[in-house]
Amino acid sequence: MVKKIRKAVFPVAGMGTRFLPATKANPKEMLPVVDKPLIQYAAEEAEEAGVQSLVFITGRNKRSIPDHFDKAYELESELQEAGKTALLQKVQNILPPNVSCIYLRQAEALGLGHAVLCAEPVVADEPFAVILADDLIRGDGGIGALTQMAEIYERYQCSIILVEEVPPQETGKYGIVEIEDDDGQTANVTSIVEKPKPEDAPSNLGVVGRYILTPRIFDLIKETGRGTGGEIQLTDAIAELLKYEKVRAYRVKGKRYDCGNKLGYLEATVEFGLAHQELGEDFRGYLKRLSDSL
Ligand code: UTP
Repeated sequence: MVKKIRKAVFPVAGMGTRFLPATKANPKEMLPVVDKPLIQYAAEEAEEAGVQSLVFITGRNKRSIPDHFDKAYELESELQEAGKTALLQKVQNILPPNVSCIYLRQAEALGLGHAVLCAEPVVADEPFAVILADDLIRGDGGIGALTQMAEIYERYQCSIILVEEVPPQETGKYGIVEIEDDDGQTANVTSIVEKPKPEDAPSNLGVVGRYILTPRIFDLIKETGRGTGGEIQLTDAIAELLKYEKVRAYRVKGKRYDCGNKLGYLEATVEFGLAHQELGEDFRGYLKRLSDSL
């Protein structure tokens, strides 16, 4: 029987240097898009896919993430006393009761591969998801990226990585895959390389922040030395995994916003603002007036 994806790992121990000074004392995963922090969008995506344990790999200056998911007794009683029930519900419903949070520390930011390895004691021998919250994804038809990937995982029963066509001159910002047996939505990965120069890239299919991985990856990360940028790269361990198991690439049905960079974050803010139930119409009016005045 295919094992369900019950655990999702959220590496949130990075330095977030592209967003300094906003990320000096606060993690970038707590940056809000309209009224929710990035990490909450990511947690909701995992819950929708049936995940029951959220495993956060945290580091320095990340206390606000556990605070966000903890019960806030004082705030809740003040909202209750003030009769602000709609707001109270928003605060209380951040996590459904069947979902638990586990926090592990990455003592030193040695890279994404190393952050994922920190989850081994909790994940053990199960397939699991990895979600990079700064890649915010709006799935078509309201179906989240991880839900889509879990379906592909059930079909192929192997590791699944999310990919997207990236501008050929930007391959140096991504892990890049080479593929075969492409049905337009999914394909077999034949090789993967971290941040290649455009002239060395095997394609322009870049890995974006979602993975479903088999537990063999942990042993392979342990054997992975420091790679690009002096970091222990998840990409290098996936390249090793290819020697033992199939890995399937999946193109998401939806749109990804790279909220780890300022322009992508602004785009997400505008588009999520336009789609917002309470604010959308007023915001559209404002943008129209603004564009007329430009
Ligand atoms: P990034 O490459 O986006 O790095 O990491 P970063 O430090 O967060 O941001 P910049 O590039 O300096 O602006 C990809 C993901 O891996 C996590 C980050 O938190 C992010 O979600 N990460 C990275 C770790 O958890 N630990 C690490 O050692 C490195």
